[in-house]
Amino acid sequence: MAHRLLHVEASPRGEASVSTTLAAHFIQRFRDDEPQLDVDRLRIWEEQLPDLHGALLSAKYAVLSGRDLDRAEAGAWDRIAGLIERVRGADSILISTPIWNFGIPYRLKHWIDLITQPGLSFAFDPQSGYRPLLLPRPATVVLASSGDYSTGPSWGRPDLASGYLREALRFIGIGEPEIVLAGPTAGDAARQQTARAEASGRLDARIAAHRRAAQ
Ligand SMILES: Cc1cc2nc3c(=O)[nH]c(=O)nc-3n(C[C@H](O)[C@H](O)[C@H](O)COP(=O)(O)O)c2cc1C
Repeated sequence: MAHRLLHVEASPRGEASVSTTLAAHFIQRFRDDEPQLDVDRLRIWEEQLPDLHGALLSAKYAVLSGRDLDRAEAGAWDRIAGLIERVRGADSILISTPIWNFGIPYRLKHWIDLITQPGLSFAFDPQSGYRPLLLPRPATVVLASSGDYSTGPSWGRPDLASGYLREALRFIGIGEPEIVLAGPTAGDAARQQTARAEASGRLDARIAAHRRAAQ
């Protein structure tokens, strides 16, 4: 059976993007090993993501309080269920993203806010707390940044993206992602080159873990 990889592409920079370029390398190498690879490419800047307000937001609160959904809320909730289905249907997940102002681009946060929903991707019980509803599967995050975060903050700027993505994916059940830092992407050319080569090597090493998921 073909391996289904969900690729969430969060840089808007197309071919100029370091994270997208590294993701393309990963997919190419993956396809070398697995010619049947089926990639669901979710381009976060092209995708029509519904705003989290109005009927959609009231649907979320209705689910949380156990109230029945009205017609508009049910329609909005169905759209969300479709987005979550793309995650549920994936054997493994690749997220390629830049760091923007210590965190992730707002469109990627938008997508995470949409797919993190009660009754669909997590449940809450006052006795036992929160429980993820999705099954664990391999996930890799390629994180491009002008700074070098391999040993801590870069020029005083923290990396809040890695910790946030780790928690966000764990919360809904995907499990602990492997975070591949791809920085610095600015400054000294040799350091950029080394960082890119290291990231590329770590991505190659992730292919085996992704492939095991579908077996
Ligand atoms: C709005 C914005 C905010 C940024 N904030 C940070 C930051 O906090 N830390 C950092 O190291 N780089 C920051 N950068 C630089 C990008 O992370 C860097 O250019 C990276 O290579 C972009 O990823 P991409 O090449 O995949 O698009 C920022 C870039 C933009 C456009």
